Amino acid sequence: MRTLSGVQSSGQLHIGNYYGALRQFLELQNEGEALYFIANLHALTTVRDGELARKLTLECAAAFLALGLDPKKAVLFRQSDIAEVCELYWVLGTVVPNAHLDRAHSYKDKIAKGIAPNLGLYAYPVLMAVDILIYDSDVVPVGKDQKQHIEFARDWATMFNTTYKGEYFKLPNPSIQAATETVPGIDGEKMSKSRKNTIDLFGEEKAVIKAIKSIKTDSTLPEAPKPDGGPLHQLLKVMMPNADWETSWRAGGLGYGKYKDMLIEQYKATFDGPRKRYAELMADPAQIEVVLKDGAERARAISAPVVARVRKAVGL
Ligand code: ADP
Ligand code: TRP
Repeated sequence: MRTLSGVQSSGQLHIGNYYGALRQFLELQNEGEALYFIANLHALTTVRDGELARKLTLECAAAFLALGLDPKKAVLFRQSDIAEVCELYWVLGTVVPNAHLDRAHSYKDKIAKGIAPNLGLYAYPVLMAVDILIYDSDVVPVGKDQKQHIEFARDWATMFNTTYKGEYFKLPNPSIQAATETVPGIDGEKMSKSRKNTIDLFGEEKAVIKAIKSIKTDSTLPEAPKPDGGPLHQLLKVMMPNADWETSWRAGGLGYGKYKDMLIEQYKATFDGPRKRYAELMADPAQIEVVLKDGAERARAISAPVVARVRKAVGL
């Protein structure tokens, strides 16, 4: 079984990325082959500053390593280091119907937010499909927001295989953890870099505490039982699934502030160690570069036969 996934280096990673995706990456590196990459080409659709883009790519790699990605077990690389991804992006694009891209949720959401439409945003799912297909991936661990993209990858792989009458691309399957498929932000909407509602993984501790303290709650009094479903309740379920905070939550007796304190403690217990490792790694970017270069070589060894197959099929 070959697992593959990527995270865009478009900003600071947050706990939605961790519980929705990265935690699965870490588990899956112990089962079969695993490839993880920093989607720095995708990030170009939003980061319009070369220096910043480079810095965010490095930070993203450091975050993966700090959280426990082991380069001996998993291949960690930069999307842009495999140049053939862009070649197959063009080739696959020749079989992709516009009608599919027109109904892509991520594109529609971005346009609805007022972002100016451009080809990069529109064709984003095609590049993502190639990211997956070029490594003959079996399983793609992601949060729920990426499900449609994996369905597209399957559809287009099938269309390509049918057009060229052969098994050129393997069909991937998503892996989505129901309990953490959509982690809410502090405002109750999906936690997302672009919504400014995040609890960051390696942000300033003070800012993280402030964010947790400002999780939106209602006016239920401390002594009253608390209602289910709000962002504080959901975040407790995501971060502390086995703790017994639920008894008092149902019975009443504790104010919301106490539950926020529990989350702060849990955040520290989970991320203080990685935070320390992250600072150490960022102090020595050369060692991150070594890991990424080695990762790119290993990734290229896997993509090369797929690229050769596709070139032959289409007559390049
Ligand atoms: P963002 O939406 O903050 O820009 P990305 O799109 O870079 O995050 O997401 C990287 C990975 O993290 C993807 O697999 C995505 O599905 C997952 N993810 C992002 N936000 C959440 C969330 N709030 N809940 C669960 N998974 C998430
Ligand atoms: N689109 C994904 C996101 O925003 C990142 C990504 C790019 C990805 N290529 C991928 C995820 C391939 C899984 C597989 O999170």
